[in-house]
Amino acid sequence: MTASDERNPLHENAPDPQHAGTDRPAWPDLGQHDDAARAAVAGIAALLGRPIPEKTTEPRTASEWLARTWDVHEASLETVSRPVSPVLHLLYGFVLGRWIAEHADDVTQRGPDRRAPQMSRLDLGAGIGVTVPTAATVLFPAGTRDEQPVAIETGYHFGDPYLTAHALPGHREVAERALDALSDDLAADHPYRGRTLQANGSGRLTITPVTPTPQERADLVLPDDVWHEIGLFCAGVTTRRDTLRALGHSTSRGLLLAGPPGVGKTKLARVLATELAGTVTVVLVTADVLRTWMTELYEEVRTLGPCLVVLEEIDSVGGKESRGSTSFGEFLDALDGARATDDVLTVATTNDPGALDPAVKRPGRFDTVLEVPPPDAAGREAILRLYLPPGTGIDAGLIASFLDGATGADLREVARRALLEHGIDGLTTDRVLDIATSGRWKPAAVVGNYL
Ligand SMILES: Nc1ncnc2c1ncn2[C@@H]1O[C@H](COP(=O)(O)OP(=O)(O)OP(=O)(O)O)[C@@H](O)[C@H]1O
Ligand SMILES: [Mg+2]
Repeated sequence: MTASDERNPLHENAPDPQHAGTDRPAWPDLGQHDDAARAAVAGIAALLGRPIPEKTTEPRTASEWLARTWDVHEASLETVSRPVSPVLHLLYGFVLGRWIAEHADDVTQRGPDRRAPQMSRLDLGAGIGVTVPTAATVLFPAGTRDEQPVAIETGYHFGDPYLTAHALPGHREVAERALDALSDDLAADHPYRGRTLQANGSGRLTITPVTPTPQERADLVLPDDVWHEIGLFCAGVTTRRDTLRALGHSTSRGLLLAGPPGVGKTKLARVLATELAGTVTVVLVTADVLRTWMTELYEEVRTLGPCLVVLEEIDSVGGKESRGSTSFGEFLDALDGARATDDVLTVATTNDPGALDPAVKRPGRFDTVLEVPPPDAAGREAILRLYLPPGTGIDAGLIASFLDGATGADLREVARRALLEHGIDGLTTDRVLDIATSGRWKPAAVVGNYL
């Protein structure tokens, strides 16, 4: 039978096995109106005194199916439901997929609305992905997941993902246990653990693994005391973790990097991310997540074990003028929540720590506000050496002495401009000095009317 036949109400289908051998007419296929039409016809037949035996239809919902399979009343099933975020929905699907594989010979599965189970792709980074069940009910018979039978249902309710466990009447604890076991299994062997993740928040919160370019300390020239603070910040989840824990201290820390544009705050956060990747899970957070999804973000983060959360430019949410808005309060609550969990390092960047509301800087939210200053003369010389090709004999110290107040980003521009104008072979101290003092490396002011 073709799809168009299926929708044709006049189509005479194959004899209904239920009524085979009787002289009753076969049911016409009424497509989606089938159930209602059957009920109406059955009603009329009953009125006429010739009741039609009810046709057993395929159960539509998970509980209908389970009630029939377990031979109990649908209403007496024990059902425990938990809403989950879209990200956790996929991750629980990952664990459920593993459970299915473990008991492959024993489980029975169904999709929603009599369809096949539905799968979605969970991105594991580096081009690797796995398909996991996202709309399905999986029945684990007695003696597989539990002594009692238990079914896990995953799906969407009006677009919102949920997770439900069903158990036999009087065995609510079996359903609770199954959902707890899913969480525990995810926490014990999280597919994202130790990876670098990008959190995006346009429309909804998504967290996907990324492969960042490694950034090293050698690429960044900063004063020793800055590096010292960075070392202390990491120690909470590395060398000093056990000591802190043994004495009942929190291993979570918050570090706020403050400084003018271009001094290397973002690069420093990336160096931290590179150094800690593998030891902890790194979560890079965009501004739209900051504004809308902070609570959800830290909920996800809790399942990831030790992690580093990088919040860029918190000025967009933490400024005094945003006080009173919901997202500001949520942002603070989320920071507090992060402190309640162990092993969460938060590093944030801001251009203007003075403008940040004092509530953001309260100890316990950010333990350290670290000023990242523009480089001094020696720093400028070292940064110029970093960006000018080696072996050209250029007097970087002399050039640096003319660039008081320049940031790392400025110095990189001077070097880039010099290379553009003269190439490697044409570079001389005088020529680079000329570029540095002329200001040609600065972005040109926009002139003219573009309208
Ligand atoms: N101290 C430094 N040492 C070496 N390179 C630097 C330094 N500071 C800045 N740079 C160079 O300038 C680039 C831009 O710096 P970065 O984006 O980290 O600045 P930022 O402080 O985050 O600025 P913003 O406040 O505008 O976000 C860096 O990728 C790096 O190439
Ligand atoms: Mg930055």
